[in-house]
Amino acid sequence: MKGIIEPDEPEGNDMKATEILTREHTLILQALKSLSRAQKKIEENQQLPKDFFAKAPVFLREFADQFHHFQEEYLMFGLLALKKDGAFDGPIGSLRFQHERCRACIDEITNSLDGYADRDEIATTRLLENLAACISLLRRHIYEEDHIFFKMAEEELSKEEEDILSVQFKKEEMEALLNGEDV
Ligand SMILES: [Fe+2]
Ligand SMILES: [Fe+2]
Repeated sequence: MKGIIEPDEPEGNDMKATEILTREHTLILQALKSLSRAQKKIEENQQLPKDFFAKAPVFLREFADQFHHFQEEYLMFGLLALKKDGAFDGPIGSLRFQHERCRACIDEITNSLDGYADRDEIATTRLLENLAACISLLRRHIYEEDHIFFKMAEEELSKEEEDILSVQFKKEEMEALLNGEDV
């Protein structure tokens, strides 16, 4: 992930939990932009070097899925699920499903890279199909979270709960850094 994640905003400990997640979204959107450019080139029959794809799928798996989605699912969604007699169950279920679909697309992209490098037609089709799905899915997912879900969450979370989440997010970030990930 090194070289891809370069937050240009201050690390402020006073950021709300939703602001931390939105800041992480900007990094994911940057990676999607790079994948989208690659997708277009493949559609125009340009053969990209295999290592062109080495960073973006790894970033999506390790940062977007294992780090960012983990924070949302196990920390924020867990807290919101206890609110308003389960009123968040519907949106949480939908966002979780999108996380799962995203994970499946990243697997497909990763698994098609060797074949793509060998100019295998089926692998190339599989790569393009899953690039398109992954980019579209994540862009819509991030839009929904930033503009709808996080607004609902902010209305429902108390200042104390926001603070607890922010501390947990920081702790996760610290552990990821200690494990050698450049978050
Ligand atoms: Fe999400
Ligand atoms: Fe997110």
